[in-house]
Amino acid sequence: MANESATPLLEVENLAVEFDTPAGPLRAVRGVSFEVGECETLAIVGESGSGKSVTAQALMGLVPQAARIAGGRVSIEGRDVAGLSDREWQALRGERISMIFQDPLSALNPSLTVGYQIGEMFRRHRGAGRAEARRRAAELMALVGIPDAERRLDDHPHRFSGGMRQRVMIAMALALDPRLLIADEPTTALDVTVQAQILRLLRQRQRAERLGMILISHDLGVVARAADRVAVMYAGRIVETGTVAEVYERPAHPYTLGLMRAVPDPRDIGAPLEAIEGRPPDLAARPAGCAFHPRCPFARDVCLTDDPAPHEFHAARASACHFAEEVIAHGGN
Ligand SMILES: Nc1ncnc2c1ncn2[C@@H]1O[C@H](COP(=O)(O)OP(=O)(O)OP(=O)(O)O)[C@@H](O)[C@H]1O
Ligand code: SF4
Ligand SMILES: [Mg+2]
Repeated sequence: MANESATPLLEVENLAVEFDTPAGPLRAVRGVSFEVGECETLAIVGESGSGKSVTAQALMGLVPQAARIAGGRVSIEGRDVAGLSDREWQALRGERISMIFQDPLSALNPSLTVGYQIGEMFRRHRGAGRAEARRRAAELMALVGIPDAERRLDDHPHRFSGGMRQRVMIAMALALDPRLLIADEPTTALDVTVQAQILRLLRQRQRAERLGMILISHDLGVVARAADRVAVMYAGRIVETGTVAEVYERPAHPYTLGLMRAVPDPRDIGAPLEAIEGRPPDLAARPAGCAFHPRCPFARDVCLTDDPAPHEFHAARASACHFAEEVIAHGGN
């Protein structure tokens, strides 16, 4: 599953995103770096508000209006996307990088049929005529497992169950054969059986198309099943990365350790990512030093003043903690 090609599909280096607020810039994403290779799934996990969706939006060139990219570099298939025009972004989005948005209902237009909305991808990007677009939409719907696809083309989104709506979103995201897929909480609103079906479908399509994938999830069970590597976000920063097996077995950041201990069995699909003691910081009043220090059982004086940058301590393993080795040793007890 791991990527073997030389240039990763996606490279993110030191990405920073800020919201302009009356009280000054709010740093929602800071110093975020990662790579995604062909056929590889990177999961991004973290509490609500940690910056997962804003990171994903930045990769798609779709940060909210009040926000701006304040630094860093994003390369898609080796191409730096800084300074792309709207037209260039439109050509990239859907074609090379595509996203399943966190809220499928708001991503679909309630007043247009599903067939029209999927067909639109082919009309707009491929210059297909109506009949051709309709045929391609039906094919895609069948491909993602929507029964009776031909007939369902003319249904509106509200006529679909949550799971089927998610399949429609997947069909739209895959319509133009992208190389990279971002799935933002693709199974959160679904029951466990449907969750498993959607994850299976994503995996199937990933293997068939050799897609690189970013899976954003609150659910450690989903991540354990679906991802190769994981990046843990806290207060806008990636605090730990590694393979799923390594991070789950030997967390190297106290926040990850807390997450792992908050669920009875992280491999148990459906297990929610429980809040650990204390609350995530208000980004407008981020604590000095390490942002996690008010909740951290390992904190010492240095943590109150020195913000630890993520550092590699083994191959492809990084932690943003002054005491990563100690945390690993502790987790093994
Ligand atoms: N439109 C916005 N205006 C101002 N601030 C925003 C906006 N959207 C997000 N933020 C800020 O950016 C931070 C990160 O938000 P983001 O949506 O990335 O969180 P998330 O990790 O995806 O959370 P969730 O798990 O709830 O989806 C939030 O804490 C919030 O402070
Ligand atoms: S740097 Fe200090 S406060 Fe931050 S996670 Fe590590 S031990 Fe805890
Ligand atoms: Mg989100």
